[in-house]
Amino acid sequence: MLSFHGGKMGCLTMLFSHAGTMLAAACADRGAFSVIVYQIPSGKVLATFCCHFKVIYDLCWSIDDHSLLSASSDGTVKEWNMKNLCIRAQKVLSHPTFVYCAQYHPAAQNLVLTGSYDAIVRVWRVDVDEVNGQLLLEFEGHCGFINTICFDAQGRRMFSGDSTGLIILWETYGFDDQQLEPYHLWHIGRKITKENLSGVSIDMLQVHPNGSHLLVHARDNILRMMDLNVLLMKEYTGAKNKQERIYSTFTPCGTYIFSGSEDGRAYVWNTETGDLVAIYSELWYTTGVHGVAFHPHENMVAFCAFGQPIHVYLYDPNMPRMGVQDSKEASEELDGDKKKKKKFGCLGHGQKSTSWPSPLPPFISSSTNPINSR
Ligand SMILES: *[C@@H]1O[C@H](CO)[C@@H](O)[C@H](O)[C@H]1NC(C)=O
Ligand SMILES: *[C@@H]1O[C@H](CO)[C@@H](O)[C@H](O)[C@H]1NC(C)=O
Repeated sequence: MLSFHGGKMGCLTMLFSHAGTMLAAACADRGAFSVIVYQIPSGKVLATFCCHFKVIYDLCWSIDDHSLLSASSDGTVKEWNMKNLCIRAQKVLSHPTFVYCAQYHPAAQNLVLTGSYDAIVRVWRVDVDEVNGQLLLEFEGHCGFINTICFDAQGRRMFSGDSTGLIILWETYGFDDQQLEPYHLWHIGRKITKENLSGVSIDMLQVHPNGSHLLVHARDNILRMMDLNVLLMKEYTGAKNKQERIYSTFTPCGTYIFSGSEDGRAYVWNTETGDLVAIYSELWYTTGVHGVAFHPHENMVAFCAFGQPIHVYLYDPNMPRMGVQDSKEASEELDGDKKKKKKFGCLGHGQKSTSWPSPLPPFISSSTNPINSR
């Protein structure tokens, strides 16, 4: 396990770079909010990008990991240069209001989409000389503040979720047909309203890696997975989320869902069956676990909370259990050796690294210990 100090007031969200060699964390210190980038696995601080004046709600790596976006309620989205690690932002996108999310378009890294308090999705160009970027378009359609936007892998569809429970599917294609300014074709594909989500703030959306489902993290203690063809929902329960902005994530193959929780624990479900398979009950967090990030190639997961350090765990089948509970469902399903081999990452995917710092505590239990299910 690695433990990073983060800011004095802790961190809200984190994200591993695509190559897995860096972890960016949105941290808070008294009156200043900065992005700290750690080298993985050494834990060395590569850069501290200072500052935003208010909470940083979202981070996004460019596809080549050469730049990083941070979106803040100070009304700006800043783009940081990861090649020269310059402490000044290379772009500052100014909004008239709080910004809650910012994403690069997966098919065009020069385009950034942002979602904000004024219910508008904005499209920006960042490959211009002007330090403030170029605002290209503003899309209306939402009814409340936009907490989250996400894309499918190709960037043909984008999803945005707001504080009233509305999800909008946007058609954001056009790069395949060599369109010069494809964003002029973009439009609302569908407005998705669900009775059960009406009036419930949506914290986070994420497209399943296979593209067929959407993870909907809502502020009513329920995570849901929506089948994008028939719009039917499956539910994942256990984690507490009523008040604060809490983050969740799929593991790289989409096999498991990890979520933070206001009770200071982290929860893991099997995506397909909906079973709660593990609860991280000994993270030593006295406040809610806000952020969860999963490494793209390794069985490594990072957790963060306000006021407390970031903890990074690596799965190691040979170490004794520590701080991880299996849920009852999991213990009934997995016995003996099977449990030892249980991993959350993408088996058979990515390169195997041999240079992890050791000793590392276990990522999940061995089967010899009694199972606690609470
Ligand atoms: C709302 O949720 C309940 C249980 O959580 C479920 O039984 C019901 O089908 C859902 N209703 C809709 C319209 O999705
Ligand atoms: C995609 O993943 C979901 C969730 O595990 C699964 O239900 C679905 O069948 C998968 N679809 C495809 C096309 O693999």
